[in-house]
Amino acid sequence: MKQTVKLDLEPAIITIFGITGDLSQRYLLPALHQLFKEGLLDEKTRVVGVTRGDTTAEQLFEKADFEASPAMRERTSMFKMNLDDPAGYTALLQKLNAIEDEEGVCMNRIYYLSIPPQAYSPVIELMGEQGLNQSCQHGTAMTRLLVEKPFGYDLASAEALIAETGRFFGEDQIYRIDHYMAKETVQNILTFRFKNPIFEDLWNKDHITSIEISAKEKIGIEGRANFYESIGALRDFIQSHLVQILGIVTMDEPDSLDSDPIHRSKQTVLDQVEIVPADKVAERAVRGQYEGYRNEVANPDSNTETYASLTVYINNPRWQGVPITMTTGKGLDERKTEVKVSFTHEDDDDARNEVRFRIQPNEGIEVDLVTKKPGYNYETQATAMSYSYSDEFVSSSYNNAYERVIVDAVRGDHTLFASAEEVLASWRIVQPVLDAWRHEDLKTYKSGSRGPGEPNAT
Ligand code: BG6
Repeated sequence: MKQTVKLDLEPAIITIFGITGDLSQRYLLPALHQLFKEGLLDEKTRVVGVTRGDTTAEQLFEKADFEASPAMRERTSMFKMNLDDPAGYTALLQKLNAIEDEEGVCMNRIYYLSIPPQAYSPVIELMGEQGLNQSCQHGTAMTRLLVEKPFGYDLASAEALIAETGRFFGEDQIYRIDHYMAKETVQNILTFRFKNPIFEDLWNKDHITSIEISAKEKIGIEGRANFYESIGALRDFIQSHLVQILGIVTMDEPDSLDSDPIHRSKQTVLDQVEIVPADKVAERAVRGQYEGYRNEVANPDSNTETYASLTVYINNPRWQGVPITMTTGKGLDERKTEVKVSFTHEDDDDARNEVRFRIQPNEGIEVDLVTKKPGYNYETQATAMSYSYSDEFVSSSYNNAYERVIVDAVRGDHTLFASAEEVLASWRIVQPVLDAWRHEDLKTYKSGSRGPGEPNAT
């Protein structure tokens, strides 16, 4: 059973732009459902779904895979507006004010942008101009903006978007979501590293020979043709989720496991990732596209990758020379997100250990040890010491990442969100590859295969 927790969250109005979209249906609404079901949100909390159509809340719930609780039904309403029309924002502001008047309290205002990334800038500008960045009229409460990745399209557009958003919202009001950071198994990497002294002293180039961070998916693009065509695997997964995991795996120990020290430490190491020289991209990066993708997106010339693999190095004394490979792909033979940290003895290739963080599925951690096989002759084998979440906890006992995202935004905890500097650092890391790939052909691979492979980087 899930532990019963009491979070004492303040009342909030959670306004979701794009509530009828794919992300909201797949992740956000189920997460809100769970939070309502567990009674974790303050009882005055309201959800306002912004849509340009006529969808009603009841229709939303009919389409969902869950049975919405009476509380969720009662506290969710829809608001129809056109995102290009300033008058809609004024009317929305009036609605939020009216909700607070009705409830008789000031409420934290949370705006969740679950809309195409190209729409962020104009929507944020109109929100700011029409006063949606202000807080409660009668007292004090917080106003927060949640934005989904990708934040920007490349380094230049990310810089522009950060500047634009900063005109209307302070950095402490902006929550850039990376739902991988909110996965229990990713958070556990920090605990594993910094609360188990037997590993931390060996966590460097003197002992570690390579690190592989991979997120393989069996699914294709699942009807998200427009989104995916303009994004591709490098932006969709490596620039955000995998670079963030790289930061967690390689950063120096922060002064404490609080938000600011963690961000500082992560930022430092991300800034030390070597920017791939243009003439090395071909050997350090591989891209591919699954067969059939071009039909799916109805673009016979599509140059968008559904598979990307990139090897980087970190220019600091701790990690100099250790290849770190980030790989992701859709339409592959398995669904597996994992971090492999390999240790090899410098004089003995057979003396190897591997630590594997199984992010999903089969969540857990494995450590391969070399052991002697029983018998008269000396033979060895790799044996895994394994820790599985499923042996320790029933699956319902840990939170889905989007539940955590919503709870942290409501309680104002920035730890698991990406800072502006981290976002820029990760665009800097992928930018030379984006530039080179613009002029390069793709390899194709069969759906259900292992993909085109990883780089043989030097
Ligand atoms: C999203 C990507 O960020 O993560 C999707 O845009 C991907 O392409 C999804 O399918 C995977 O998330 P999860 O939590 O299901 O592994």
